[in-house]
Amino acid sequence: MDAAFRKVNGDNAAQQGSMYLEERTTKSGVLSCIFSLKEEVGALAKTLRLFEDKGINLTHIESRPSSTSKQEYEFLVSVDSACTKALEEVIEGLGTQISGHVYEFSRNKQKDTVPWFPNHIQDMDLLANQILSYGSELDSDHPGFTDSLYRARRKEFAEIAYNYRHGEAIPRVEYTEDEKKTWRTVFKELKTLYPTHACHEHNRVFPLLEKYCGYKEDNIPQLEDISRFLQSCTGFRLRPVAGLLSSRDFLAGLAFRVFHSTQYIRHGSKPMYTPEPDVCHEVLGHVPLFADPSFAQFSQEIGLASLGAPDDYIEKLSTVYWFTVEFGLCRQDSEIRAYGAGLLSSFGELQYSLTDKPKLEPFNPEKTCLQTYPITEFQPVYYVAESFEDAKEKVRKYAATIPRPFSVRYNPYTLSIEVLDNTQQLTNLADTISSEIGILCNALRKME
Ligand SMILES: [Fe+2]
Repeated sequence: MDAAFRKVNGDNAAQQGSMYLEERTTKSGVLSCIFSLKEEVGALAKTLRLFEDKGINLTHIESRPSSTSKQEYEFLVSVDSACTKALEEVIEGLGTQISGHVYEFSRNKQKDTVPWFPNHIQDMDLLANQILSYGSELDSDHPGFTDSLYRARRKEFAEIAYNYRHGEAIPRVEYTEDEKKTWRTVFKELKTLYPTHACHEHNRVFPLLEKYCGYKEDNIPQLEDISRFLQSCTGFRLRPVAGLLSSRDFLAGLAFRVFHSTQYIRHGSKPMYTPEPDVCHEVLGHVPLFADPSFAQFSQEIGLASLGAPDDYIEKLSTVYWFTVEFGLCRQDSEIRAYGAGLLSSFGELQYSLTDKPKLEPFNPEKTCLQTYPITEFQPVYYVAESFEDAKEKVRKYAATIPRPFSVRYNPYTLSIEVLDNTQQLTNLADTISSEIGILCNALRKME
């Protein structure tokens, strides 16, 4: 997604509270903006007059209470995209004529802009259809390239994801006998390796998935069951994805503890090989770890670091993601074990990764983020984390070096991102911490 935002006016922001403005275009050529206003008589009328003065015809308007401030309301307005120029002038007007703190979200990145990022978990719906390639488009070397039935099936899965909206149950899929056969082969083979090769967290969660989510040889688990299970463990949830997302959008999902998951299965002619993620990779490789609180936090930390980060840092964070969430190894007791989903879902590479053939390096985001890597071959280098806690701290420190003019925090009650750039937000955060500290002190007293 190439949208961006920039701070237009910061005058007396602390007193006035924040006002955010965002724009996005839809396929029909409509331009939509979201801005928030402090609740006071005439504020909306004054704002709408700015649109009227520029001759902008509003085709849609709706309001909702602000997710970040009790005193504010957010407004969504849609205008025809022919009004882009006039809209820019309105944005300037919002910054200068209506006192407040204005952010402009612009699709044309300028020098002082920060890339757009989702603000609320529901904004994941906006990313869902910004896919780089549709799930049914296969490369000529894909095992299913000449199989018209397989391609039609992939289209069905892509349609499910394309039409999915936040809050809905993920549609259940009736898998075919052929698909179940492929699953059975993968499941049986990998399960034999887990006790000796997978990290403790994976081995601890796996029996729970067998018990509660239908993980078994003759059944492909349903994303909806898994998503519910994960929410009860760590608040992580799955969301079906129609195709390849940009790294920026994919990482943004992690900030909300949302994991974009494929639902189709690899081609049956090569059950032990897939050139792309499939349901085996997601549910056997990724899902068990997302049920672990430390790992969930670690993953979210990468996601939060990505919000509003410049493009070159998105690439670096994607590399960090690659060498941890996808291909990470960790030290456990006196052994090295695998926690990366790319390893835990590949019979061949899982074994190879724990031999003396690849090079092992300690996980260090500053260094790891610069490592080049092959996509279709076994990795020549793996990075070893001391623990998820340690990896999380290192990513957090690394994130602090990313140039962006604000800090962010996820609010699990409102399912939204708080941009910590004004005193009101900091006061809210201090209140939350203070209440948590109160609970901790009470609990400690009772244990004395
Ligand atoms: Fe993956």
